[in-house]
Amino acid sequence: MSEPTTTQTGTPVASDAHSLTVGADGATVLHDRYLVEKLAQFNRERIPERIVHAKGGGAFGRFEVTEDVSAYTRAAVFQPGSTVETLMRFSSVAGEQGSPDTWRDVRGFSVKFYTTEGNYDIVGNNTPVFFIRDAIKFPDFIHSQKRLPGSGLRDADMQWDFWTLSPESAHQVTYLMGDRGLPKSWREMHGFGSHTYQWINAAGEKFWVKYHFRTQQGDLHLDPAAAEAIAGADADYYRRDLHEAIEAGNHPKWDLHVQVMPYDDAKTYRFNPFDLTKVWPHADYPLVKVGTLTLDRNPQNFFAEIEQAAFSPANTVPGIAISPDKMLMARVFSYPDAQRYRVGTNYNQIPVNAPHAAPVANYSQDGAQRHHFNAPSAPVYAPNSFGGPVADAEKAAEGGWESDGELVRSAYTLRADDSDFGQPGTLYREVFDDEARARLIATLLGQASAITVDEIRERFFQYWTNVDAGLGATLRAVAAGEGVAA
Ligand code: HEM
Repeated sequence: MSEPTTTQTGTPVASDAHSLTVGADGATVLHDRYLVEKLAQFNRERIPERIVHAKGGGAFGRFEVTEDVSAYTRAAVFQPGSTVETLMRFSSVAGEQGSPDTWRDVRGFSVKFYTTEGNYDIVGNNTPVFFIRDAIKFPDFIHSQKRLPGSGLRDADMQWDFWTLSPESAHQVTYLMGDRGLPKSWREMHGFGSHTYQWINAAGEKFWVKYHFRTQQGDLHLDPAAAEAIAGADADYYRRDLHEAIEAGNHPKWDLHVQVMPYDDAKTYRFNPFDLTKVWPHADYPLVKVGTLTLDRNPQNFFAEIEQAAFSPANTVPGIAISPDKMLMARVFSYPDAQRYRVGTNYNQIPVNAPHAAPVANYSQDGAQRHHFNAPSAPVYAPNSFGGPVADAEKAAEGGWESDGELVRSAYTLRADDSDFGQPGTLYREVFDDEARARLIATLLGQASAITVDEIRERFFQYWTNVDAGLGATLRAVAAGEGVAA
């Protein structure tokens, strides 16, 4: 026998087939409380989608430390022998919740470590750099990638207008238009923290680090024509692939490495090491392995555990801190703010966001949907004389850096090797092979033909000429042959 259906407050209900009406053919009455509850609850099933990275999927797993990096950080999560539960979410940046997984885009790569010192999140991408280096440009950048207000259509003119007027985007746009823009699956792509973070060891020594998650499945890409066909045939291709792989016991793994820069190197390095549009050459700072992340458990409920998951660069733990990267400092504000709006004030009490291996003790209280509360006798303010929790600077002191100066609105101070086009040029000439270069050119020619404004198309050719003169010349010549050039 099935259990009886009830209202949300546990009262048995009479029917899931018939509303309460005045006679079989008459009016429906408002006091059919179950009908009203059912319709009202249904109307509230959706929460706002993420303003960016709306389409995604994820799974749970574990991170196991395999090496000893305790010389660089005292964070418990990265100490020898540590294994912690993790949650990962992968995503596309620009498309909405229902958008096809295989549209060309950067892919989000978020990891939540449920550590004994609280949750630690790395909210990165499948590329090591980003389009801009000052957060004040982020809403404009995203608007240019989303839809025109009038027609509701995505638009090559506004995308390329923004990018060509923002030359710092060239490195990331080269990645995006190259193979990284179309990964074969979420399992078959590397992940990067992208920003520079700070690590602090037990002696209080500070280091700058960059995170690299290297996929054990191989870093593979889709052919553009195949990606387009899949977008039509199976919009949820990546989500399905991850779910089915884990169900089949085929557990994807990534090896976590860090590049470590001694604290003082940052002061004199040849370009600004906090500039998010740059990579640190491995010849200068080689990869140091930390451990291995494995995904082995699908969510039981996609909405509760993936849609409501809240990742944030603000979630750091003792031994790990942020850096003076203008993007990162703003992200520390932006994510919790977005999540209070998107999920609700008490979003960190939802099981997927609450710490799983650390207690919570503080003086915050109330707010919508509160369900955790302190004992009635617990003091509600600090400092107090009644044994409430006490902040411990020794245990939890955050990292930092020397800083003083006038308040200005300015670009970063330029150093000898700071340039917008240097590293994208190297990526094109030295990292891409002949086939990857040919695919990039084909993709860019497609983009050029979608631009309708002559001035923007001319800037497009100039932008790629700045990345590499030969690339720019090829694009102009082929486009002219196809009747595309301005
Ligand atoms: C999601 C803002 C730069 C990776 C988000 C969300 C916001 C946001 C508001 C939605 C959060 C939510 O509703 O849960 C910003 C701002 C940025 C910035 C203001 C620049 C200042 C970046 C960068 C990266 C990145 C540089 C990667 C290195 C992600 C990812 C997600 C995300 C992966 C999805 C998180 C998830 O899986 O739930 N971003 N973002 N963002 N962002 Fe950013």
